Amino acid sequence: MLRAAIVIGSLVLGASVVVAQQDLVNQTQTLMKGNGKNLATVLAPIAKGEKPYDQAAVDAALAQFEDTAKKLPTLFPASVKGLKPADSDYSSSPKIWENRADFDAHIASFAKAVADAKAKIKDLDTLKVSVQALGKECGGCHETFRLKNT
Ligand code: HEC
Repeated sequence: MLRAAIVIGSLVLGASVVVAQQDLVNQTQTLMKGNGKNLATVLAPIAKGEKPYDQAAVDAALAQFEDTAKKLPTLFPASVKGLKPADSDYSSSPKIWENRADFDAHIASFAKAVADAKAKIKDLDTLKVSVQALGKECGGCHETFRLKNT
């Protein structure tokens, strides 16, 4: 009886650890989707002149990038390797854990580009320059560390 309780208890514990790991993967996905939305529907259209310059919208987008850069270092413990976000075309590459120092360097470089953008963007011209720099950071990390699900 006691043994059964211990077995069941550890099964429940094991399941909740998996849930916690899946939660980290889902958090990454939510942050990335927010990044994608801010780039595609706020910063890029303003830079292209499709939307009027709006400092408050720019600041909100940069704040979301900053939040992402701050959280990314905690979202990839070894235990989430191989887990995929639900309903997604993308997932994290195992290279994150094989080459952790390089991945961390990409996070740091993204954080720096966001800080630079926050300091510099004050009109359309400065926005255009910073959006290019930010876009390079997104693409530079995805190239190595993001997988397209097949
Ligand atoms: C340090 C690495 C890194 C940086 C920087 C980064 N990403 Fe990602 N991104 C990832 C990884 C890893 C995934 C795969 C995990 C996932 O899809 O949840 C991903 C997935 C995505 C996805 C797909 C989300 C999904 O699952 O549907 C989008 C959209 C995205 N990123 C946009 C961006 C944009 C826009 C930027 C820049 C503003 C950015 N990312 C910066 C690592 C990064």
